[in-house]
Amino acid sequence: MFRAAIVCMSDKGYRGEREDISSNVIEEILLENNYTINEKIIIPDEYSLIKDTLKNICDSNLADLIITTGGTGFSKRDVTPEATLEVCEKVVPGIPEAIRAYSMTITKRAMLSRAAAGIRRDTLIINLPGSPKAVRESLEYIISTLNHGLEILVGSATDCARK
Ligand code: MTE
Repeated sequence: MFRAAIVCMSDKGYRGEREDISSNVIEEILLENNYTINEKIIIPDEYSLIKDTLKNICDSNLADLIITTGGTGFSKRDVTPEATLEVCEKVVPGIPEAIRAYSMTITKRAMLSRAAAGIRRDTLIINLPGSPKAVRESLEYIISTLNHGLEILVGSATDCARK
């Protein structure tokens, strides 16, 4: 069982002007897959706040996995991938590549997501887009494969016996 944190980047969500349905979708999928949720927060699209929030969760070893939602598009305030990559020690390009490749079979707009993923200390951080639909499509596609990566990251598996 892995520990997860959900971080929603949304100015409107933070001000209470929009219901954060995407975080609930993430929570539902994670719980179905036996994750425990240690943190679920909404923060505004502020670069330094995003960085500090992600850093704190990783450095206090609060979660094995952080899923973020929002801030991956083209709007001026969308800075989630940049803040994420700045706190990561290792980049994990394959996860957003896989999400975009799969999502492109659903909507060509998937190419507009600039989402990133990476590792800081013992925590994997994955950006997802902001809409509940995109979140569900993306997370349901990757969730079963994340377990293997987290087993290696957290230390309970050391090799990659192929499936
Ligand atoms: N991915 C999937 N699977 N399904 C979607 O509907 N929407 C796209 C894209 N990725 C979408 C998707 C759209 S319209 C945008 S603008 C980008 O994600 C960025 O989303 P964000 O600005 O909410 O972070």
